[in-house]
Amino acid sequence: MPNAGITGWGKCLPPCTLSNADIATFLETSDEWITSRTGIRERRVAHASLGDMAHVAAMRALACAGLEGKDIELIVFGTTTHDDQCPNMASGLQQRIGADGCAAMDVNTACTSFLYGLSTATALIRSGVVRTALVVGGELISPYLDWNDRNVAVLFGDGAAAVVLQATEADEGLLLEKLGCYGESREILRIHGIGSAYVHQGRLLGRTEWQFEGQEIFKKAVNGMGLACEDVLRRAGKSADDVDLVIPHQANLRIIESVAKRAGVPMDRVHVNVQRYGNMSAATVPTALCEALEEGRVKPGGLLLMPGFGGGLTFCAHLVRWGGRTTPLGTTDVDLPAPTRTALEIVQRYRTARGAALT
Ligand SMILES: CC(C)(COP(=O)(O)OP(=O)(O)OC[C@H]1O[C@@H](n2cnc3c(N)ncnc32)[C@H](O)[C@@H]1OP(=O)(O)O)[C@@H](O)C(=O)NCCC(=O)NCCS
Repeated sequence: MPNAGITGWGKCLPPCTLSNADIATFLETSDEWITSRTGIRERRVAHASLGDMAHVAAMRALACAGLEGKDIELIVFGTTTHDDQCPNMASGLQQRIGADGCAAMDVNTACTSFLYGLSTATALIRSGVVRTALVVGGELISPYLDWNDRNVAVLFGDGAAAVVLQATEADEGLLLEKLGCYGESREILRIHGIGSAYVHQGRLLGRTEWQFEGQEIFKKAVNGMGLACEDVLRRAGKSADDVDLVIPHQANLRIIESVAKRAGVPMDRVHVNVQRYGNMSAATVPTALCEALEEGRVKPGGLLLMPGFGGGLTFCAHLVRWGGRTTPLGTTDVDLPAPTRTALEIVQRYRTARGAALT
């Protein structure tokens, strides 16, 4: 049975940056409150579509692996903020990268969508259905945010990242994972206004309202990721000392610190970038992985632990053995078009549109 080595990686972070001070110009909040409660200092707001960001991330991952789109046999696109529900995101990406005829599916488990997608693609490689896969985690959350609700507006950001998986006989790639979901707690993180349930309540589709119990989510997140980390380490016969780097879902610095403490891994072996990007949902783990590689924090043969949680409430932890290569085979010039608005201007347009919908 082959393994699924990670041979390519690429990210796309839209350039427009929204600082905490920017948010404080239209919401009753402060840089001090946001930084002390979450660790977040700024986040990106996309001027392009999710499909555009995923395309750039995918092309960078392909160049990194020394492959072309036609080499890909499966695309798994992890997201909750689709450009369209039908057709799916993966088919649009297939068309743009020229992976003609390949299998193409979306996975929606909220913030864990990339990690659930990594499990799905790895399983299809191990079982021999495909030999090469592209797994994307991407979100365009800014249009779905209620920018008048300070409980959620300060927490999220936009971005996308992707990895290429290739069948290999080497002992690398995803070794073990724990996937789970606290379905009984699904109501504590709910976005009204995207699915048809909202229409059945006689309300206007597209005008989102966030049902969000921050402290309960916090507790479940720490518990779920803590249990999942313990589970994979125990089954792998490993201890915290064997883990070279933790690459966790980035929702809140205090959550990351609590999970690391519970897992027994010191913070100098945890990759943290939530201060720069906020919570990009499905994009956080693959983006952090790309950064850790760029910064030389991933070593050949290194053992990586990737815990995640998200709406559902889904939770998971993935134990990955890195391969022999930590530098890209190639690069690409593909990039997003230059923005014509600032992040604050983009957000103000969303706020204006929401105000119009409310009247
Ligand atoms: C959301 C979160 C940062 C809130 O932090 P907290 O310490 O639990 O804060 P609380 O919710 O208790 O709110 C404390 C006070 O700050 C206020 N507050 C909330 N958001 C605020 C903001 N952006 N700016 C200023 N004050 C704010 C609240 O209204 C509350 O005021 P009150 O005491 O007068 O009622 C934290 O609970 C969290 O990160 N939870 C996890 C959320 C998450 O990760 N979700 C993503 C899932 S993938």
